[in-house]
Amino acid sequence: MKEIKRIGVFTSGGDAPGMNAAIRAVVRAGMYRNLEVYGIHRGYEGMINGEIKHLDSRKVSGIIQYGGTILKSARSAEFRTFEGRQKAYENLKKHEIDAVVAIGGDGTFGGAKQFSEEFDIPFVGNDNVPEKGILFLDEFNLATKSTAKGAYEPFVGIPGTIDNDLFGTDYTIGYDTCLNTVMEAIDKIRDTASAHDRLFFIEVMGRDAGFIALNAGIACGAEAVFIPEVKSNVANLKNYLEEGFRRKKSSNIIIVSEGDDAGGAMDIAKQVKEDLKDYDVRVSILGHIQRGGSPTAFDRVLATRLGIASVDALLDGQRSIMVGIVNNKIAHVPFNKTIKHHNPLDMDMISTIDIMNV
Ligand code: F6P
Repeated sequence: MKEIKRIGVFTSGGDAPGMNAAIRAVVRAGMYRNLEVYGIHRGYEGMINGEIKHLDSRKVSGIIQYGGTILKSARSAEFRTFEGRQKAYENLKKHEIDAVVAIGGDGTFGGAKQFSEEFDIPFVGNDNVPEKGILFLDEFNLATKSTAKGAYEPFVGIPGTIDNDLFGTDYTIGYDTCLNTVMEAIDKIRDTASAHDRLFFIEVMGRDAGFIALNAGIACGAEAVFIPEVKSNVANLKNYLEEGFRRKKSSNIIIVSEGDDAGGAMDIAKQVKEDLKDYDVRVSILGHIQRGGSPTAFDRVLATRLGIASVDALLDGQRSIMVGIVNNKIAHVPFNKTIKHHNPLDMDMISTIDIMNV
């Protein structure tokens, strides 16, 4: 296998608080291991356009506490074309980058996987004879296939997304900060909901996963939560609200995940209002406030651990895997597993909302 001397790092997809902490950790862990580190700006878009610059310890100092990403992020349409990916490949070669750390979510890892396949970069999940085993976790039932020899451009991923929707890690970087931001916002809405005896529908992010909605619901004492993983029943909600109305329950908070099958908060509020005319209904869509802000201590520590683990994984001969955290231990999971599905929501957590609303 080619010796790794120079690595690239980039952030891609929706930004998440803690991405800066992860960049800092990759740069410093790389330097600690005598590697040169280059930052690829604007994700795959910058890889295509050659926006690649040298990074060192000083350039990443004083960033651990900031949201966003100093490398910027983008969703690249051009990288979805073969021509785009070819340009990206040429740029990596031109800058003599031997391996890449990709910080992002399933779109980011899906892109890395496709890129690796096309440019003759073996990826975990094929049937090559293992050169070095990857540590897989038995409980995930992952095949113990491993790396192949002679790869040109190894990619290792770090999970960075507020959605927490990647299989093979208990937490993604940014999720904890997002959850705390949502909790603070909903606490504030609760004050005004209660002052005016209003019914609030609050929409939170999470295209395919209800982690943000469900856990915010528990943390804020929401009366109900709508999430993509559970078929929604607006009729049940109406009954519950009517019953509460009879019991003189004056205000309610309903959290709706943007990916819910009954539609967004606006749609559900409209359906409820049609039958429950006495309710004073308001809708609040939290939007991109959920993606910003200073990362929590949890996210900073997670990002730092995963940043170091990503460099170690590359030097250990791993490729096309994500480094994650499971039961507080570093885990290596192939891209093709992480992007297919996310960790299941714990059904006990779902019943928590009902138990708390007895
Ligand atoms: O993937 C993270 C996420 O914040 C999702 O929760 C949300 O659906 C999406 O990104 C929004 O993306 P954009 O900022 O590109 O509109």
